[in-house]
Amino acid sequence: MSSDASIWREIVDVARWAPSPHNTQPWKLRPIDGERAELFMVSSRRLPDEDTTGCFLLCAMGIFIEAIRIVVANRGRGLVVSRKEPLDISQELIPFAELALVGASEPDEFADSAILGRRTSRLARQSDSLPDLKRPIDEIARRYGHRAELTRDPDAIAQIMDTNANAVMHDLADAAYGGEIRTWYRFTRAHAARARDGLDARCMNVPWYELWFSSRFPILLRMPWTRPLMKRLYRRRVGHVNAVLSIRGSFFERDAAERAGAMLLRLWLNLHELGVGMHPFGNLVTNVTAHRRLTELLGTDGVWIVARVGRTEVPPRSHRLETKEVLLAS
Ligand SMILES: Cc1cc2nc3c(=O)[nH]c(=O)nc-3n(C[C@H](O)[C@H](O)[C@H](O)COP(=O)(O)O)c2cc1C
Repeated sequence: MSSDASIWREIVDVARWAPSPHNTQPWKLRPIDGERAELFMVSSRRLPDEDTTGCFLLCAMGIFIEAIRIVVANRGRGLVVSRKEPLDISQELIPFAELALVGASEPDEFADSAILGRRTSRLARQSDSLPDLKRPIDEIARRYGHRAELTRDPDAIAQIMDTNANAVMHDLADAAYGGEIRTWYRFTRAHAARARDGLDARCMNVPWYELWFSSRFPILLRMPWTRPLMKRLYRRRVGHVNAVLSIRGSFFERDAAERAGAMLLRLWLNLHELGVGMHPFGNLVTNVTAHRRLTELLGTDGVWIVARVGRTEVPPRSHRLETKEVLLAS
């Protein structure tokens, strides 16, 4: 990389902490010069058997681009994104967009430290007190043409969580879905530190042997006498839920998924700054039966993400690929 392209190293150093489904980190960046870089999506880091529409991984690309936009603004520059279309998913490195640093910009509403500090919180113990979230959540969602709802009703939450647990049991027992997610499990600390991606048992709030056992014997999730036990175990790991956030809006095409990603990152950073953690429940959207039930329970269609939100202790930090692994040689 030429020395003036080193700005991209500084940008990626922060933006790589963006969240992605299963911590897949499906992005690579090739600096062209000090102002331009090519962004790629990595085909083998997609989740074709779980994210069957591909939109959750497109959403992750939107999240990464938004993280870059924030970091760039905090260095006084603007970002222009020229998307490559159509996406050629037959290649391992899928040309996704060209990024250009342009003009001058005010610092972003979020500091780099928000990107570095944000985490998914799957800790079971949530405090009951919540700051007023309705206004900030609404404001960010509306900026992107989405609508956010916060459900606090314990009966509705119990039914949503039960629907989620059923979907998780069903999906993990499915050969294609379960087979794919298992390749992203990182059981021990050493395994997670070596891979620097994927679902770290420590962050999942599950002992490594429990994760290993359920992934090794998925039949336990299906058998009539073990399924209720596994479901109870999963539900106990999730723990107390006192607020469920749901967001609806356009999602299931490329442009919409990327914009939704930008919104999701800003919303997540905002919650983080309010001391509130978030734990998405993807199966409630990707599992057709669960989504139908969710639509009934919430009385509204078009929900593309559901998450519990609440105050917890600081959760463990998941790993990331190193900056030099995200950057491709010019
Ligand atoms: C679009 C999207 C969907 C996600 N869905 C889930 C989910 O269904 N369940 C879950 O436990 N975590 C989910 N996550 C959280 C990721 O697993 C998490 O961001 C990733 O492992 C990195 O960890 P971190 O957020 O703590 O940095 C999702 C994240 C994103 C961006």
